Amino acid sequence: MRGRLPLKALFLVLLYALTASAAEVLTPTANSVVSRDKIYLVFVGPKDARVVVKKGKKAKFVLKRAKNGRFYHHYILFLKKGRNVFYIDPDDTKVVVTYRNSPFAFRFHKSRQEKPCLLCHPSAVKAKTCFTCHKFKKGKRIYMHGPFARGECFYCHNKTYVKGVRFGVKGKTDFDLCSQCHFAPLVWQDMLYQHGPFGARNCTACHDPHQGKYKFLLKNEPKMGVCLACHKKKEEEFSTPGYRFHPILSAKGCTVCHDPHASDFPKQLFAKPFKVCVACHPRCKSMKRGHPVVAHPVVGPIIPGTNKRLTCSSCHNPHGSPYGSLLYAPKAGNKICLRCHKY
Ligand code: HEC
Ligand code: HEC
Ligand code: HEC
Ligand code: HEC
Ligand code: HEC
Ligand code: HEC
Ligand code: HEC
Ligand code: HEC
Ligand code: HEC
Ligand code: HEC
Repeated sequence: MRGRLPLKALFLVLLYALTASAAEVLTPTANSVVSRDKIYLVFVGPKDARVVVKKGKKAKFVLKRAKNGRFYHHYILFLKKGRNVFYIDPDDTKVVVTYRNSPFAFRFHKSRQEKPCLLCHPSAVKAKTCFTCHKFKKGKRIYMHGPFARGECFYCHNKTYVKGVRFGVKGKTDFDLCSQCHFAPLVWQDMLYQHGPFGARNCTACHDPHQGKYKFLLKNEPKMGVCLACHKKKEEEFSTPGYRFHPILSAKGCTVCHDPHASDFPKQLFAKPFKVCVACHPRCKSMKRGHPVVAHPVVGPIIPGTNKRLTCSSCHNPHGSPYGSLLYAPKAGNKICLRCHKY
């Protein structure tokens, strides 16, 4: 019997120390994996509790409310890719959240988790009540997606928890979901050349399903940003010293020539390269020969030593170049000619 009592006492003291001071985290659940860069943290803790970032971007205090003598603290945690660690002061409760792309991401909406919130929040059954927690940005220059603005969340999201489904979104792919209301994707789908992410049926790579700062709910600046988000090599090319853009590219952006979804021509161009160019440079339309030097062919013959046919974009870079006239090589010293001819 000797030794038992002190051990038990020690255990009780420990248990007391743990339960009495630890904050109770209501969301997210312990060691959650999430596939977004921010998440709400709601916990019950002492009045003056505070969140400290150990590993992560930022913890933003939102509000706290008292109910039945307990304090409900609301924060937004901004996450880095990978493992993030936060502490709730003064009692060092640890909150660990991992941010990575995962189909098994943390899901909040399960009745067990919602229960403590219903003390103050209306039941999350009626769509209108969603906006008490899911705040949306307001302002003149915010574009809202029709069904989101109307609070038709359940058109796109499942009402109840379904295991392994990304954010409870209905439909196997974005394409399945979006094409329920939009018919254009059904037309794009039958075209000969489909753009990478469109072919992967991933609409939300470029579009925000809810709202956004840019037209067409694009996630990035529409002229080039939306494309350069993935086409990093093009971005590098554009930053070579002395690079000058094709004036139409800086004026109107990538989609004057490429369709972001699909087309019947290679590289999702709206026509064959020759036709693309002469659509805006009509003087070149009937010019099959005579450019850039007398009697030089412009379109048609095979380029010596290759299997490609000559066209405007064999000599001119449609995007831009560090040399004059958008050429792939300088005119000086006939460098441009030497790309195809060995004199
Ligand atoms: C003690 C009352 C109370 C409890 C319990 C409570 N909240 Fe809140 N919560 C509020 C109040 C009040 C607001 C502000 C509502 C408003 O702006 O319309 C709020 C706002 C929010 C917001 C929006 C914050 C923002 O960005 O402005 C979220 C998200 C939220 N609560 C989540 C939860 C969750 C999840 C739970 C349960 C785990 C919960 N709340 C429990 C009182 C509470
Ligand atoms: C009590 C506050 C609250 C209310 C009310 C609420 N949500 Fe949420 N919801 C959350 C929190 C917290 C998360 C977890 C994500 C986060 O922290 O940003 C979440 C996440 C989600 C997600 C992502 C999937 C998931 O489960 O993580 C969807 C979809 C969603 N909510 C839809 C809705 C819809 C639709 C409604 C209205 C019917 C609604 N929510 C009402 C707090 C709330
Ligand atoms: C047009 C379809 C559509 C509608 C309407 C819609 N959502 Fe979504 N929602 C999506 C898709 C698709 C995703 C997944 C986005 C992703 O993977 O990037 C998503 C993701 C989410 C997420 C998790 C990602 C995030 O942004 O935090 C939440 C929360 C959410 N929706 C809440 C809502 C609420 C609340 C409403 C209603 C007010 C709503 N959604 C209406 C399609 C929709
Ligand atoms: C419930 C029906 C519905 C679903 C599902 C839906 N949309 Fe929409 N979408 C609309 C409505 C309605 C509009 C507004 C049309 C208007 O303003 O003329 C719209 C507008 C748009 C616009 C702007 C079009 C323009 O001409 O300004 C884009 C882009 C868009 N949706 C993309 C999507 C994507 C991507 C998805 C899938 C994640 C999707 N939509 C799912 C109904 C839907
Ligand atoms: C690579 C980025 C990208 C992807 C992926 C993408 N879009 Fe778009 N989408 C755009 C851009 C950019 C525009 C603006 C149109 C323009 O500039 O000509 C647009 C315009 C739209 C429009 C409105 C104009 C129109 O042509 O009808 C709808 C609707 C739309 N997209 C739906 C979708 C749907 C549905 C998907 C998935 C099947 C999808 N998009 C995938 C970039 C994309
Ligand atoms: C979500 C990532 C993503 C975005 C955003 C994106 N692309 Fe792409 N793009 C791809 C992938 C993946 C491919 C196919 C892989 C490849 O052939 O390089 C591709 C291929 C292309 C091709 C054909 C390349 C070739 O050599 O055949 C063109 C042209 C193109 N994209 C233009 C655009 C334009 C214009 C935009 C903006 C409207 C854009 N992309 C936005 C991912 C993206
Ligand atoms: C003036 C029309 C035009 C504009 C604007 C334009 N492109 Fe192109 N792009 C073309 C043509 C034509 C080709 C095919 C060149 C060839 O095959 O000889 C092409 C080819 C491509 C390719 C595949 C070959 C390569 O050069 O890597 C990619 C990727 C591409 N474009 C991306 C973009 C992006 C991103 C933008 C916007 C920053 C853009 N394009 C703007 C006409 C254009
Ligand atoms: C959507 C319209 C449009 C298309 C398509 C287009 N261009 Fe242009 N291009 C312009 C405009 C506008 C200018 C500037 C005014 C001018 O020089 O005519 C320009 C200028 C040029 C210049 C002179 C640039 C300089 O720096 O001096 C060349 C060369 C050129 N384009 C070649 C092409 C080629 C090759 C194609 C096909 C790949 C093409 N363009 C497609 C509109 C277009
Ligand atoms: C064999 C190479 C080659 C082909 C093919 C070619 N060009 Fe050119 N282009 C040149 C060269 C070299 C110049 C510069 C001429 C000079 O400065 O004397 C030029 C000049 C131009 C200019 C004038 C640019 C300025 O700065 O004023 C335009 C516009 C143009 N080309 C458009 C086209 C179009 C459109 C096509 C297709 C129908 C085409 N080119 C096909 C080599 C070519
Ligand atoms: C993109 C490749 C390319 C470039 C750059 C190029 N050429 Fe050519 N050139 C061709 C092709 C293809 C032919 C036709 C060969 C054939 O008929 O088999 C040709 C034909 C010629 C011919 C013979 C014309 C005839 O049909 O009798 C001459 C001369 C010529 N090029 C001079 C030049 C000069 C000068 C330059 C630089 C200003 C130049 N080329 C730039 C591809 C090119």
